[in-house]
Parts: sequence; C-alpha cells; structure tokens
Amino acid sequence: MKFLIISGNPKSDGLCRSIEEELARGARDGGADVDALDTNSYLRCQVCGDGWGTCRERHECVLAPKDGFDKAQAAIKEADALCVVTPVYWGEMAEGLKSFLDRFRRCEFIHGVLAGKPVLLVASPGGSGNGLLTCLEQMDRFCRHTGAVIFDYIGVNRWNQDYKRAAAYAAAKALAEGRKAGETYDG
Ligand SMILES: Cc1cc2nc3c(=O)[nH]c(=O)nc-3n(C[C@H](O)[C@H](O)[C@H](O)COP(=O)(O)O)c2cc1C
Repeated sequence: MKFLIISGNPKSDGLCRSIEEELARGARDGGADVDALDTNSYLRCQVCGDGWGTCRERHECVLAPKDGFDKAQAAIKEADALCVVTPVYWGEMAEGLKSFLDRFRRCEFIHGVLAGKPVLLVASPGGSGNGLLTCLEQMDRFCRHTGAVIFDYIGVNRWNQDYKRAAAYAAAKALAEGRKAGETYDG
C-alpha cells in the first residue's frame, strides 16, 4: 500500500521531526511504500470570484500550475492511507499545512479523493503543551469536510514523547497493515 505523510513541520530536527521519523518507520515496517509531502512551500487560497473558483466545479485550483499543487493532489489521490502531522502553532496547525489543506478541501470536499480514505492525525505541542485539542479539532474538521476516515488521533508533547513516539510508530504500522477504523481489533 502507498502511505503518504503530509507534514506542516518546517524543521529538519526537533520533536515533530522525530515523530515523523517514527511514523515513516512504522508504516514501512507495516509493509507500506512511504512518501512525504512538505506543505510549507505552497501558495495560499486567493478566494477567487464570489467565494468559489475552479475548485468547486473542476476540482482544480487556479494556482496549481504555479506551485505544483496539482501534483500534490495526485499524490494524495494515489495514496491508500495518509498521516497528517503538524507542530501545534497558536493552538492550530502550522500555517503552511493549514493553507495547503484549505485549498485541498475546496477542491476535494465530501466526494473528492479523500472520501473513505483512512487518515491518522498527529499534532505536537512542543512548547507549553497547550492547544493540542484545538489543533486536532481543526484537523478533525478537515477530515469531516473531505470525507476522510479518521484512524486515530495522537498528541505528542515534551513530557509524553517517549510513550507517544511508540504510539505513533504502532499506529502507522497498524494502519499500513490494513487495520480499519470502526472494526474491533482483538489481536
Ligand atoms: C509560532 C509558534 C507558535 C507555537 N504555539 C504553540 C502552542 O500553541 N502550544 C504549544 O505547546 N507549543 C507551541 N509552539 C511550539 C511548537 O509546538 C513546537 O515547536 C513543536 O510542536 C514541536 O517541537 P519542535 O519544534 O522541536 O518540533 C509554537 C511554536 C511556534 C514557532
């Protein structure tokens, strides 16, 4: 299976990066081909026309040729399972991830390419530890709007990182092995 990690993390080291590495390792150990998508270089939604642009009817963003957003859409379409991972900034997703998902949601709401796909949500509030729930709630809403199936929610902070790192690994592995949200697992 193809497992795509969509990340809002701008850093190449630190807590969030270490969690991303565990997610990738878990998915690989579960037998998946793992790819990563860094959302920090994409443009933001221009709120075209009267509020809707080509996103609504054509499922395309007018900015896509400029920044490769169409290729990111294709990668998400091809993935069998996804993980969305972000540091918590201001109790929300990192800004790059939020604006990427804002554009994606417009193009792919409800019946789009995420409908029925399992998504693991991971947020790391690495400062005070505050804002985890509001961040996960924002990620949850994105999944509800796009029809994605939430596999699990994981929050990692500075004082739970040892056992949450293990949980991130285990969740990615279980997802890659084909475990389904909503089905009782008694293994
Ligand atoms: C602009 C900004 C806002 C932040 N807001 C929060 C916050 O609301 N709550 C929190 O616990 N940490 C906050 N942090 C700290 C990040 O969550 C932390 O850097 C990241 O989650 C994990 O640590 P890492 O940078 O080592 O990957 C913020 C950091 C930045 C840069």
